[in-house]
Amino acid sequence: MADELKRGLEGVLVAESDLSYVDGEVGKLVYRGYDIEDLARGASYEEVLYLLWHGSLPTAAELDAFAADLAAEREVDDDVIETVRALADAGERPMAALRTATSMLSAYDPDDDESGDDGEATLRQGRRITAKIPTILAAFERVRQGEEPVAPDPDLSHAGNFLYMLTGTEPDAVSEETFDMALTLHADHGLNASTFTAMVIGSTMADVYSGVTGGIGALSGPLHGGANQDVMEVLHEIDASSKDPVQWVKDTRDGGGRIPGFGHRVYKVKDPRAVILEEKLRDLAESSGDTKWLDYTTAIEEYLTDQGLVEKGIAPNVDFYSGSVYDTLGIPVDMYTPIFAMSRAGGWIAHVAEYQEDNRLIRPRARYTGPEDAEFVPIDER
Ligand code: CMC
Repeated sequence: MADELKRGLEGVLVAESDLSYVDGEVGKLVYRGYDIEDLARGASYEEVLYLLWHGSLPTAAELDAFAADLAAEREVDDDVIETVRALADAGERPMAALRTATSMLSAYDPDDDESGDDGEATLRQGRRITAKIPTILAAFERVRQGEEPVAPDPDLSHAGNFLYMLTGTEPDAVSEETFDMALTLHADHGLNASTFTAMVIGSTMADVYSGVTGGIGALSGPLHGGANQDVMEVLHEIDASSKDPVQWVKDTRDGGGRIPGFGHRVYKVKDPRAVILEEKLRDLAESSGDTKWLDYTTAIEEYLTDQGLVEKGIAPNVDFYSGSVYDTLGIPVDMYTPIFAMSRAGGWIAHVAEYQEDNRLIRPRARYTGPEDAEFVPIDER
């Protein structure tokens, strides 16, 4: 059925990949065979990056060397920081600022590789991009707050260093571990829209900067990465209006609106990442004694479950709980999607490198529904 139209490419197989597998029927996610729950609880984000980029979990010595190489690439050229300042001063949105600054990074890359035909160079460039995105994001946030950017600390973990650069204070162990877990949970997820965007770009044998820049653009939309911010904005709105969360949901559905953080193209049951983040939120709420976001999210989920929405396959996705966790860590709402990008960049780079190894230009087609045999009329006769 070569001419069958699959809107949104739903369920269409376009490539083979060893990287991640999503079983949407049972709610399972694996990276290279390892269950996401084991990785989120047992491995650092750096270990997960190594796994995605090099095919196996590292030994302790391999991890040390890998993490040190990554940390050594955190500094960003002053010109990029100046651009970040200009973008912040102009009131640019964080995802748009990240997109611009990431694209600019290539000007300072010593590999100067303009194409994706050298897999080793792609991974070296990917390492630099992954190391520098947190520096860009933290600098952007600091400048917006009228503060000076904080230089990266190579002795801290990827997660810990980001929180340090954001706040100027070294994070406590619980914050660092929680944030690291969130990074691991977001690192890869099959051929989601942004990963596929990066792959399409990579399939032209363009460089990995182009792929990651395109991935950031795709992730910024409210149907993809933007939903985590939407969830938190809803929770804040409910809080500010003193509305019952269930009433908010009823009003939204009566008005034909969608509940952000619910539904997924692949998962027909609760997203396994949401299960882990909900547990984390519960731990954080119990230890701080502030259960507000937990109460709101639980009330919404319970109501929608009672309404049969979850049974219909519109269940909580990763974004439903990530915002509350980030809020507890003191991260501003409009930085949530950039944080998603900061983590997912690892997956984009892995997919671009994997696809380019046995590349085939991605070039689908559309069914033409426009007019036929239109008669051309010169402009001065129209
Ligand atoms: N709230 C209420 N109803 C919903 C929702 C929702 N969040 N999501 C889907 N539906 C309904 C939708 O109205 C439709 O109903 P009907 O058949 O009666 O018209 C049905 O479910 C199927 O919806 P769809 O748009 O065809 O499904 P899709 O596979 O294209 O959509 C989605 C997936 C994520 C775009 C959608 O569920 C959605 O808009 N969710 C809210 C935004 C969100 O949370 N996005 C984050 C996705 S997970 C993170 C990521 O991977 O980026």
